[in-house]
Amino acid sequence: MKKILLYTSLIVMTILIACSGDKPQSSGASKAVKSAKSSSVEKKETYKMKKTESESKKAVASKSAEAEEDQTEPMTKEQLNKAKKLIKKAGDVSDVDGKKLFKMNCTSCHGLKGNLKINGAKDLSKSKINLENAVAQVYFGKGLMTSYSQILSEKEIVAVAKYTETLRR
Ligand code: HEC
Repeated sequence: MKKILLYTSLIVMTILIACSGDKPQSSGASKAVKSAKSSSVEKKETYKMKKTESESKKAVASKSAEAEEDQTEPMTKEQLNKAKKLIKKAGDVSDVDGKKLFKMNCTSCHGLKGNLKINGAKDLSKSKINLENAVAQVYFGKGLMTSYSQILSEKEIVAVAKYTETLRR
């Protein structure tokens, strides 16, 4: 009698073990465990993504900070030589209204006082560059500032560059 009980209980146990190893019965529970696990994995992943996102934002911020210091290469020697010639050729420009030219062409980025700094424009009220550099920059353009060689006459370019010097404090 005892032996029969032992055998039957053994059989029942093996059946139970076989079932739990496979899908039936316990599958619901294991699924719940699995989904809980995967959701925590997902959370971790979104956290990671957020982290990398903020890191890349930081990288961009530091890059733009660098860019603010020196956006573009300085004017080349040839460009400065050209500017020198333009200044010499223009001679006396007191008959050209540099202020009016500035208002018409430059205030969209630099503002009336030169300190608007739209589109990464340099603050002209704090500018320390010489007339040659200013003329070269207006004539050839630099960074986001377009060239004015096709828009203004040579004399006008020198006059407006001279006018920017009056904006300094
Ligand atoms: C589209 C916007 C824009 C307009 C319009 C513009 N500028 Fe600029 N300007 C800039 C930017 C941007 C810089 C900085 C360039 C750089 O160094 O990368 C700059 C720089 C300058 C500088 C050099 C300042 C320094 O200290 O380095 C001068 C001078 C200047 N501009 C004069 C003028 C004059 C004069 C005009 C009109 C004829 C004018 N700009 C129109 C955007 C503009």
